[in-house]
Formats: sequence, C-alpha cells, structure tokens
Amino acid sequence: MTIIKNDIDAAATLLKNNQVIAIPTETVYGLAGNALSVSAVTKIYEIKKRPFTNPLIIHLADTIQLTKYVKNIPAMAEKLAKHFWPGPLTLLLPKNSSIPDIVTAGLPNVAVRIPSHPMALELLRKLPFPLAAPSANPFGYISPTSANDVKRILDEKIDYILDGGECEKGIESTIVGFDGDMPIIYRVGAISPEAIKKIAGKVEINTKHIVKPISPGMLPSHYAPNTSLYLTNNVEELLKLFPQTGTGILAFKNTYRTIAEDKQEVLSASGNLDEAAHHLYKALHRLDGLKLERIIAERVPNFGIGIAINDRLEKAALK
Ligand code: TXA
Ligand code: MG
Repeated sequence: MTIIKNDIDAAATLLKNNQVIAIPTETVYGLAGNALSVSAVTKIYEIKKRPFTNPLIIHLADTIQLTKYVKNIPAMAEKLAKHFWPGPLTLLLPKNSSIPDIVTAGLPNVAVRIPSHPMALELLRKLPFPLAAPSANPFGYISPTSANDVKRILDEKIDYILDGGECEKGIESTIVGFDGDMPIIYRVGAISPEAIKKIAGKVEINTKHIVKPISPGMLPSHYAPNTSLYLTNNVEELLKLFPQTGTGILAFKNTYRTIAEDKQEVLSASGNLDEAAHHLYKALHRLDGLKLERIIAERVPNFGIGIAINDRLEKAALK
C-alpha cells in the first residue's frame, strides 16, 4: 500500500531510516533517498529499473551545504546558481569523495540542484544529507507531475508519496555543465537557453548526436508513453492518414472536430508555453491511460520553455 500524505516530518523520518519515497519538486516528482547511502541509492535504481550507468541528481537545501560535496564551484557556476537557485537548474560540478560513485555512475562530476518547491526545501532543511532523486517514473516512461500519477506508475514499489500538489513547471530541470567558463546545456529544461545566456553572456547546447550519452536525457527514446506517438507540425494532415477511432490528440492550442473531445488534450488554449509545459506530462499520462492505438502530438513554438517541450515530445515519438 502506498500512502499519499503531506506530512513532511513523516517523510524526513522515512528518509533518515534509509527508505526511498516520492517527493514533490517544482519540475516533476522525484524518487528520493539519502544520497550518501549506497543502499538507499541502490534502491532508487532498482525501483526505477534504471541502468546503473545513468547518474542521479542530488538535491540540497542551500549552497553552504553544497561546499561539503564538491571540490570547487567555478565562477560561472556560482553566477548561474546565484541567479537561478532555488529553481529548475541542475549544475554539473566536480564531486569530492563524500558522494558515493554509484550516485554519479563513476563520473567525476555530480549533478546538483536546489529545488524551489517549498515542501521540498522544508524537507531538505530537516535532513543532514542531500537527496538523490531522479524523476519518479519507471525508466523511459513519462515523468509524473502529481502524487496520483506517481501512485499509478509506481504503486506497491514505494510506501510513501509526499503530496505537494501539481508541479508548477511540469518539465525537468535544465542541466548545465562547464567548459572553462562556457556554460553547456546537456538537457534542455524548465529554464530556457535564452534565460541562461542572459545571465552568462554566452551558452552552448550539446544535446544531440552523442554516441555515448553524457546525460541519458540525451538518449533518443525517453519520456515515452506506451501508446505510439506521432509528432507533427500539422495535425490535420496526419489525421487523414489514420482512422478516427483509436486516435488521440495532444494539441497545443486547438481541438479538432473529427476526434471526440475526451480523446484530446489541449496544452494551452491561450497559447502560453509555461501553461503548456505545466500540462504536458499530465496530459500524456491521461491519453496513455485511454489505451488508444496512437496519439498525434503537435509541436509547440520552439522558443523559451517550448524548446524543452518539443525535446520531450521528440523523445516520446516513434522513430
Ligand atoms: O527536474 C529534475 O531534474 C528532476 C527533479 C526530480 O529534480 N529530476 C530528474 O532526474 O529529471 P532524472 O534522473 O530523471 O534525470 C537526470 C538527468 C539524467 O539524464 C542524467 O543522466 C543526468 O541528469 N545526470 C545526472 N548526473 C549526471 C552527471 N554526473 N553527469 C551528467 N549527467 C548527469
Ligand atoms: Mg527522468
């Protein structure tokens, strides 16, 4: 039985007892455990069925805590951290020996962020260790943005879900590493490349054409529903190719009259990309639950957080 509750003290006690539980963040729900405990971190990989070659992000309450776990914080990293933390920015920093190798899959850098969800922060402040937390979905599946979606996809595998309501951003953090003082985005996310460039003065994006992924968010198939997903700029055209029955639509702004309304999801009727990101995974979870033959998804405008929405849709789509 999985309990869904909003008791932060109970969550802290379970984590101190080496348990793995689901916690809310402003991006997506995380599957959290003590990052300094090899057995807790092992449980996370096992529950997620995630390969041990895919490292985890650690979550902290403040930057003072961070200095205990990294060798140094480059000036550019500090600049970005000052501006975007707490928030959906993950930085790749050189880890010291207090972080077990299993957390970083043997890599020299550890991914870290300070989340802005008030309950996540309050929980982290109660703990004497950072929390390793990947998104709380089975490996390769759609990330959850509500306690109920966590329960549906991980039920029986965890005992406790800390309920923090719906995740505000709805899409994962932006992962940034450094080459000297050049910030490099390895996974596009809730903070747009434009926003990072505005603070850093420069930015590179390196999320494609990597044979051995530095970050599995780079893997071609990820964030995917069980239902076949087709991605298009023109829903009308694709609708002509398929029978109406068995077809669902994940649209940006409009509904389509040939398809029943309960088989459609509109990400933002007003065309607001933040709202679209907030609804994305919830909409995918619902459509996938209908057990349709196919989902036709519409690309969104490719700027701001829309870049991350399109990235996730491309990875969810059939190749
Ligand atoms: O918004 C988020 O980042 C959410 C919430 C829960 O914080 N977490 C999340 O974690 O999306 P996960 O594990 O689903 O995705 C983390 C990504 C993976 O693609 C992983 O490969 C990459 O971060 N990553 C983690 N540690 C890394 C490292 N040391 N070097 C390179 N990439 C790393
Ligand atoms: Mg994930």
